[in-house]
Amino acid sequence: MTAFSYRNGALFAEDVDLAAVAAQVGTPAYVYSSAALVANYRAYVDALAGLPMSVCFAAKANSNLAVLRTLVRQGAGVDVVSTGEMQRALAAGCPADRIVFSGVGKTAEDLEAALLAGIHQINVESLQELELLSQVAVRVRRDAVVVFRVNPDVDAKTHAKISTGRKGDKFGIELEDTAAAFERAHILPGVRPVGIAAHIGSQLLDLSPYRDAYRRLAELVRELRGAGHVVERLDLGGGIGISYKGDAAPSLADYARIVRETVGDLGCSLMVEPGRSICGDAGVLLSRVIFIKPGRTRNFVILDAAMNDLIRPAMYDAWHGIVPLRQPAEGAVEAEFDVVGPVCESSDTFAKGRALPPLAAGDLVAFTGAGAYGAVMASTYNTRPLVPEVLVDKDHFAIVRKRPTFEEMVAGESLPPWLA
Ligand code: LLP
Repeated sequence: MTAFSYRNGALFAEDVDLAAVAAQVGTPAYVYSSAALVANYRAYVDALAGLPMSVCFAAKANSNLAVLRTLVRQGAGVDVVSTGEMQRALAAGCPADRIVFSGVGKTAEDLEAALLAGIHQINVESLQELELLSQVAVRVRRDAVVVFRVNPDVDAKTHAKISTGRKGDKFGIELEDTAAAFERAHILPGVRPVGIAAHIGSQLLDLSPYRDAYRRLAELVRELRGAGHVVERLDLGGGIGISYKGDAAPSLADYARIVRETVGDLGCSLMVEPGRSICGDAGVLLSRVIFIKPGRTRNFVILDAAMNDLIRPAMYDAWHGIVPLRQPAEGAVEAEFDVVGPVCESSDTFAKGRALPPLAAGDLVAFTGAGAYGAVMASTYNTRPLVPEVLVDKDHFAIVRKRPTFEEMVAGESLPPWLA
C-alpha cells in the first residue's frame, strides 16, 4: 500500500501535508504512515490465513518504539537480533512469548537476557552457540526453547551483501549437520530443540529461491522426524521484496501458495519474519535542497540529507525515488542531476544522472521506500545528529524520535583527567 500521494499539488502522508511536518520538525526527517504499516502487516495475515502461521516483524528493519507498538497492537510478534532490540520489543508492549531471537553471534549476556525474559524461541546458528546456551540455561535455571537455523544453500538472487543462505555464508548450521545438532541438544541440559529456521536473504524479487529453500526444509523435517526427532516449528525467515522503482514486486498470494505447497502439510507451526515489506513503503525521508550546483560535466542537487541518514544507496547502490513535495506542473521539463548530501565523501551520493523536475534551493523532497533499513542504519558521521522520526495517523502526526541537541550528542563523552 502507498499512503503517500499528491493532493492539490502537495505531497501528503495519509491526511497530513508533509510540508507541515517539515516546517515543524525540520529536515532531514523520516515520516512513517500508520495506515501503511497496518495494511502491510494485515496483508501477510490475510494471505497466510488458514495456515498455523505467526508473523514476527523483523525489528532490524525499523525498531522505532512507535512503529513496533503499532504492529504489536495488531497482533504481530517481533524478530530481534540483539538484547537492545529485545528490550525495544518488550518496551513497545510485545508479550515475551511473541519474541524470537535470531543472529549469528549472540553472547552469553544476550542469551541470559532472552532466557530471563521468557521469549518464544531462540534461533541457534551453531553448535558453539548451543553449548553456550546450555551453560547459560543451567546457570539461570531456565530451559531454552531452541530452533536451529540451517543454511539451505540456496542462492536468493538478490544483492550479494544481503544474501545469506548460500554455503560459505556465515549464517546457520549446514544442512548435513542439523541431525547432529538435534542429537547434541538432547544430551545437553537446559536446551529443548523444537524446530528449524532458514533465512536466505532480503529483497527477493523472484520467489523461486523461497520454493527451493522451503522444499529443502520440508525434506529436512522428514529426515529429522525419521531419525526420531520432534520438529514442530518452522521459521521461514524474512519476507518478500518490494518495488522501489515501480518495477514488479512479488505478490503475497504467490508467496502464500509456495508456503502451502512446500511446508503446509508438515503439521508444523509456521512463522515468517518480514521486515522490509511491512515498513519499507510506509516511510519517506524528507530533505531540503541546500544548493543547485551546476557544473561543466554534471549538475548537482545538494541536499541536507546525507549518507549517514540513509545509507542504502552508498552501501548497496540502492535506488530510492526522489520526489518534490510540491507536485511538478504538468509538462514540467525534467533534467538530469546527481543528487548528493553534504558529507565529505564521494559515496555520499543518492542518485547519479537522475531525471528530476525543476528544483530550487529551499525546495523540499521526499525519498520514497525509506521506511525500512533507513533510520535504523543512520549514524552520526560528521557529527550530524541522528535523524528524527515522525509517525502519521490519519490527520495528525507526532515526533516519535526527536532530533538530538549537540549537548545530547556529546553527553556520553568526557575528557580524561590529563586533558581536563
Ligand atoms: N529474519 C532474519 C534472520 C534476517 O536476517 C532478516 C534480514 C529478516 C528476517 C528480514 O528480512 P526482510 O523481510 O526485511 O527482507 N540492510 C539491508 C537489508 C539487510 C537484511 C538483513 N536481514 C538493506 O537495506 O537492504
